[in-house]
Amino acid sequence: PVWAVLVVAAGRGERAGLGLPKQYRPVAGISVLARSILALGEALPEAQILCATGPEDGPRYAAMLDELPPELARRLLPPVIGGPTRQASVRNGLESLSRLATPPTHVLIHDAARPFASASLVQRVAAAAAETGAAVPGVPVVDTIKRVDAAGAIIETPARSELRAVQTPQAFAFEPLLAAHRRAADAGVADLTDDAAVAEWAGSTVRVVEGDVRNVKLTRPEDFAEAEARLSRPLE
Ligand code: CTP
Ligand code: MG
Repeated sequence: PVWAVLVVAAGRGERAGLGLPKQYRPVAGISVLARSILALGEALPEAQILCATGPEDGPRYAAMLDELPPELARRLLPPVIGGPTRQASVRNGLESLSRLATPPTHVLIHDAARPFASASLVQRVAAAAAETGAAVPGVPVVDTIKRVDAAGAIIETPARSELRAVQTPQAFAFEPLLAAHRRAADAGVADLTDDAAVAEWAGSTVRVVEGDVRNVKLTRPEDFAEAEARLSRPLE
């Protein structure tokens, strides 16, 4: 397979409330986005890497490039501008990859806000997708999850043993995923929160492989404090 990596980094980080998009916030001295790129670039050393960025993030992105080793920075394609939703940002990235002289056969899509993806996790997901066409990492949920209505009344309680909290990177055969994104957008399905959901919507079977509880998405302010603390502990 010819892999490309798409890092979605066009969000505003509203819940983190940091005053700048969270992916540009340094954690232990290195920005979250640079950490994510370092992790993926090391795990898939042959892959080209594309970031989807916010329309006003050009200067921040340029500064982030200086955090990367030059040989890794050279593997980055010029960034593509993201869209109003994560789904739209991925779509823009996939369209951009499809216009390359040699489009990838497989794509690994990662949230910029997950800087702790290990090489073994990335490679496990990629290997599963190379075999099956679509794979995502998931971990068992520890809370009991309820489905609720707008008023907060519980509609149902799915059996916890059947639930997984899924993460990124998510990996797919390229052409079917691009086709699924185009069909979903054309059908007005515009706010699916991960790419597995787009593939599922289009009728594909997506395999969940073993995720990693350390591969958290930095979302709220306290997640940043925890990330700093983790990186300052000697054994991690
Ligand atoms: N993302 C994106 N384009 C969007 C929205 C989100 O590329 N229009 C990216 C984010 O940059 C992030 C990932 O998708 O890396 C996961 O989204 P999330 O954690 O929700 O990040 P934000 O949307 O930035 O945060 P919030 O929802 O709190 O505003
Ligand atoms: Mg969001």
